[in-house]
Amino acid sequence: MKKILITGGAGFIGSHVVRRFIKNYPDYEIINLDKLTYAGNLLNLTDVSGSRNYKFIKGDITDVEFINELFQLEKPDAVIHLAAESHVDRSISNPMEFVMTNVIGTVSLLNAAKECWKGNYANHRFYHVSTDEVYGTLGETGLFTEATAYDPHSPYSASKASSDHFVRAYHDTYGLDVVISNCSNNYGSCHFPEKLIPLAINNIRNNQPVPVYGKGENVRDWLWVEDHASAIDTIFHQAVSGETYNIGGHNEWKNIDLIRLLCNIMDQKLGRSAGESAALITYVTDRAGHDLRYAIDSTKLQNELGWTPSLQFEEGLSKTVDWYLENEEWLENVTSGHYQDYYRQQYEYNEL
Ligand code: NAD
Ligand code: DAU
Repeated sequence: MKKILITGGAGFIGSHVVRRFIKNYPDYEIINLDKLTYAGNLLNLTDVSGSRNYKFIKGDITDVEFINELFQLEKPDAVIHLAAESHVDRSISNPMEFVMTNVIGTVSLLNAAKECWKGNYANHRFYHVSTDEVYGTLGETGLFTEATAYDPHSPYSASKASSDHFVRAYHDTYGLDVVISNCSNNYGSCHFPEKLIPLAINNIRNNQPVPVYGKGENVRDWLWVEDHASAIDTIFHQAVSGETYNIGGHNEWKNIDLIRLLCNIMDQKLGRSAGESAALITYVTDRAGHDLRYAIDSTKLQNELGWTPSLQFEEGLSKTVDWYLENEEWLENVTSGHYQDYYRQQYEYNEL
């Protein structure tokens, strides 16, 4: 029996990780710790929330006293840490929130783990889920490897880079068993519609303009979220302490090409004539400090631990569109209320 504390399990990626662990490891006890910010949604887990090996705890990882008490009470064997503020645009308008959750929150968890596991670090693991954005940006060529120097540009990526450094420092200084993975852009079900793909699906569905930053030339390397969850599972169970793994889909797309593909898929699914959805594409003011290109070399993970992505992008995107069209209630739920204020503020200067 293993007790695993998963933070941020009500979010996009966290909910897929929680579901995978509940289903694949019935002998594990899974505790989902989540503050339920705007991005956290227990509806993401309705199919598994009644499982006997699952418990949800609402709480804030920046609340040091609460986190220490939680560790003393639950004595988890391991942590998989996903809780974070995750949206680059929000980090530009409100950086402090990102420092609090991503830096202070991570250190608060590391401290609690260090105290709780003292004298027995070898039998406990702290897995920190991070991003490829810590490496900064690539030009037209090249790939991020685990040896690429950190060079973050946005407050979001700077806060994630800082948290990665703290995790490594707790390994090097105190001997905590830590592993880190840095993943590229995820897509799939339960993705909050502030991010490019779900935002575009929602806008196309509602016949609203689809905002493309700058010239749409920026490149991202897209990975199906369930493949990220399978990589996390592999790394959690097999990685050597102190190691870092890059996770990516070998699947680079210019934003504008991706949006055109999505528009074609949506035309077919919605019975629209060819080109109808693409007519909604609207070029808007670029994101400040916008990284040009991300692309991951995941050779280390593939060669050492045998992980490979399972799904081709066109198939994954089609499945993702199906999910959003079948789950209109989920979309309506998360795009009501505060979302409207966020959307107005984020896109008002573009007069969308
Ligand atoms: P998300 O924004 O969808 O979910 C974040 C979750 O963390 C939410 O459930 C939220 O309620 C919770 N949370 C936020 N602040 C909290 C706090 N103070 N205390 C407790 N819970 C809190 O994020 P996501 O896209 O699922 O990303 C999860 C992790 O994976 C993040 O660490 C992110 O940096 C990393 N990551 C994301 C991607 C991606 O493409 N989305 C890619 C690589 C890495
Ligand atoms: O690379 C991993 C990262 O991917 C994660 O660490 C982040 O948590 C996650 O949010 C994601 O960051 P991006 O900034 O790459 O994702 P986003 O969906 O916000 O934007 C993808 C690209 O699309 C980026 O080049 C900006 C552009 N974009 C985004 C939005 C929201 C637009 O052109 N228009 C938009 O309206």
